Amino acid sequence: MFPALRMRRLRSSQHMRELFSETPINYEKLVMPVFVEEGLEGKREIKSMPGIYRHSLESLSSYVKELEDLGLNSVILFGVPAHKDSEGSSSYDEEGVVQKAIRLIKDNTQMNVIADLCLCEYTDHGHCGIIKDRNVDNDSTLPVYARIAVSYAKAGVDMVAPSGMMDGQVGAIRSALDSNGYGGIAIMAYGAKYHTSLYGPFREAADSKPGSGDRRGYQMDFRNSREALREMEEDEKEGADILMVKPALFYLDIISLSRQKFELPIAAYNVSGEYSMIMGAVKDGLLKDEVIEESIVSIFRAGADIIITYFAEYLLKNR
Ligand code: PBG
Ligand code: ZN
Repeated sequence: MFPALRMRRLRSSQHMRELFSETPINYEKLVMPVFVEEGLEGKREIKSMPGIYRHSLESLSSYVKELEDLGLNSVILFGVPAHKDSEGSSSYDEEGVVQKAIRLIKDNTQMNVIADLCLCEYTDHGHCGIIKDRNVDNDSTLPVYARIAVSYAKAGVDMVAPSGMMDGQVGAIRSALDSNGYGGIAIMAYGAKYHTSLYGPFREAADSKPGSGDRRGYQMDFRNSREALREMEEDEKEGADILMVKPALFYLDIISLSRQKFELPIAAYNVSGEYSMIMGAVKDGLLKDEVIEESIVSIFRAGADIIITYFAEYLLKNR
């Protein structure tokens, strides 16, 4: 008790503070999202996400090499196809843009390649699944997801990350991978994926806005936390290797709860809107760029093992 106890002793100098700091930024645990657009020439900046680009295959290849040289280990790929239809058939095309990107990156780098697995970038209606009777139909979507997973595995992906929030998606993908000889491919399950306005900038980046309606019928209600644990429990049972919470910053309580409840690695997705908010404020001079480190540390402190973040490149450059 005071005056014998003085908490300020351990904060008295920079070296002291370093010695007693509890939470490092683990650079080898950062994953950078990258966008590849079929038919694009060069690269194009995404307006709502300053510093983030859609790449052509060529530009992607040199960009990922740069990331590797900076010391980054992992990327998660998102594709923007030239052709969209009601079934999202470009998604499982072996000559599709993501399949090509996977091969290119695996041929030219040592990078760990994760591929987001969903239909919203590939369907003309922009929903994450197949539409039946004006509804996003769960069970007819599962075989399509399974087919995408196998095509990514064939291209050489290390891990698939199903983000469509269909029930049973992890199990369907696990059994398709296993029965096609891809038992070694990991699944990162977007278990607790909330419906949020924070995906707005991403939908510009990936051209994946739903044409009508919204995703409330499959993504989680942000008022719920116990439901997130049920979602993740189910994903674990279906064979997920990693559980994800998404978004991250308004959902630190969910990261912390899931860290306590599960032994699996927990990934947090620091989403596009979180990037845009913080980067926008930094660019406008409203906040110092130190806020970036603080926000990422808060996600690690909450218990995330892995962070998917658009700040990965920035953090590595300013290490
Ligand atoms: C596709 C998908 C989305 C994100 C990742 N995968 C968008 C959505 O569900 O609408 C969001 C990523 C981000 O905002 O950074 N289902
Ligand atoms: Zn989707």
